[in-house]
Amino acid sequence: KQQYWLAPSILAADFARLGEEAAAVLEAGADVIHFDVMDNHYVPNLTIGPMVCKALRDYGIRAPIDVHLMVSPVDELITRFAEAGASIITFHPEASQHVDRSLQLIRDAGCAAGLVLNPATSPEVLEYVMDRLDIVLLMSVNPGFGGQAFIPGTLKKVARVREMIDRSGRQIRLEVDGGVNEQNIAEIAAAGADTFVAGSAIYGKPDYRAAIDSMRAALAS
Ligand code: DX5
Ligand code: ZN
Repeated sequence: KQQYWLAPSILAADFARLGEEAAAVLEAGADVIHFDVMDNHYVPNLTIGPMVCKALRDYGIRAPIDVHLMVSPVDELITRFAEAGASIITFHPEASQHVDRSLQLIRDAGCAAGLVLNPATSPEVLEYVMDRLDIVLLMSVNPGFGGQAFIPGTLKKVARVREMIDRSGRQIRLEVDGGVNEQNIAEIAAAGADTFVAGSAIYGKPDYRAAIDSMRAALAS
């Protein structure tokens, strides 16, 4: 079993102080920076692009940056984010004309590759690209905004995708994104997830270390 990763979503950080905010959660014990890219087209919101990713690298952020593309099309931005210092790049299969090709593009650019499934998207698509995946991201809210409530039906899907991954015999991380908090993280882990995105449950708290510690404690219980 792979170790648990906590991935704070900087969508919930203070954008005016993004470098400090990213450094602060890493200092507080986070493993990965989750970087939400929204284009006001694939999702109804607009956030940050490759220049901001590069700015975090230039600021001195060395931890893996997990770029969650909520954009369409995806290929041009895959290349740009790889150049900007992304470590992991994931995209929604609905947003790419050629999912297999986009996954290849990510690995060819030297990044870890993954697909993101919306709450209503079937995991079937994964079967045909298992050998191209380093991570699967399951949305537990509809993409576009932080601070939404976890959709309980996600737990079944986590268990199903965990089975698919185990059957494949591959080392593929299983990440959950949306409404994750210290109350529900243990059952999400029990269902089979190993990587947890949390925006408001970390950045919404005054003490990032306390928030991260209580999630780790819940995972260890
Ligand atoms: C939603 C984003 C999430 C979001 C999670 O579209 O993909 O990463 O920031 O925020 P919380 O943890 O507040 O639900
Ligand atoms: Zn996300």
